Amino acid sequence: MILSIESSCDDSSIAITRISDFKVLFHKKISQEIEHSKYGGVVPELAARLHAKALPDILEQTKEFLPHLKAVCVTNEPGLSVSLVEGVCMAKALSIALNIPLLPINHLKGHIYSLFIQKQESFPLGVLLVSGGHTQVLHVKDYLHVKTLASTLDDSFGESFDKVSKMMGLGYPGGAIIENLAKNGDENRFDFTVPLLNSPKIAFSYSGLKNQVRLVIESFESLDEQTKCDIAASFQKVAVEHLLRKLKKLFKTHKFERFAVVGGASANLYLREKLEKLTCNLLCAPLEYCSDNAVMIGRAGIRAYEEKLFCDTNDIRVNPKTAF
Ligand code: KG4
Ligand code: ZN
Repeated sequence: MILSIESSCDDSSIAITRISDFKVLFHKKISQEIEHSKYGGVVPELAARLHAKALPDILEQTKEFLPHLKAVCVTNEPGLSVSLVEGVCMAKALSIALNIPLLPINHLKGHIYSLFIQKQESFPLGVLLVSGGHTQVLHVKDYLHVKTLASTLDDSFGESFDKVSKMMGLGYPGGAIIENLAKNGDENRFDFTVPLLNSPKIAFSYSGLKNQVRLVIESFESLDEQTKCDIAASFQKVAVEHLLRKLKKLFKTHKFERFAVVGGASANLYLREKLEKLTCNLLCAPLEYCSDNAVMIGRAGIRAYEEKLFCDTNDIRVNPKTAF
């Protein structure tokens, strides 16, 4: 068995996965959404303190598995440094105490492996990764070979939902809140411009769209419920259209036999529906494993274990900014 730890942002999560058949034997996640909600975003110091309490509480429940562990894996990049450190320290302690190898895992690879939970992996793949920290299109040849084809110039797709939610005085995280409001909204009431519409660049940008939304919000003295729904729907339509237009452009030069969408924002069903029309056979992770979790880290960790990508406990580093 392998024990995996995820603490890159505001979710404390530990999983135990059987190496031979990828079966998930234990998974617990404690989210900090309520604690961060009043600030409209993640407060790093608060996140670190909450991880320091939650991770040992979860670990306590894994005692029966500890004698059977072959390795421990942990997210060490990218993410909030003070949050990553909490998981990495726990993983180092377990590696030393149980005398088992330590495997550092890239969080974004974890999201890719959320496609293969309790199953065999299958590559090559084109992947759209949409989360709170990233908006990227990747060409994934296998675990070791991931090429970035496009990324955001500023805010990420998920982050833009969080910011629109915050500007309307709604909670954090904003993704599901905006998606739900949009269901009752008129997506044509506000005419937002699609970002980078006339640019030949295959890249993403969400800060301008966020500003357009801010100006509309500020033009009202107060927002009634229907207006909030209409803003959410009009924003979501353009945020997704931006992704689709750039993907269409990219598909002219890059042919993918199979295409997937992963990351916390891939839980958005409006986005999935639109992507399904663009690419046949869209692959998605199960909804419960789209947002940050230790199961996807464990699944990637099994691959790293097979590749023997072990790291000495003195050498493991936290890399807040690394992508691929
Ligand atoms: O992957 P994730 O859990 O954390 C990061 O690695 O960043 O993604 C969290 C992000 C948040 O910005 C959240 O608002 C967004 O994913 N998200 C959504 C939806 N559900 C979560 N964005 C749009 N629509 C959703 N339904
Ligand atoms: Zn994530």
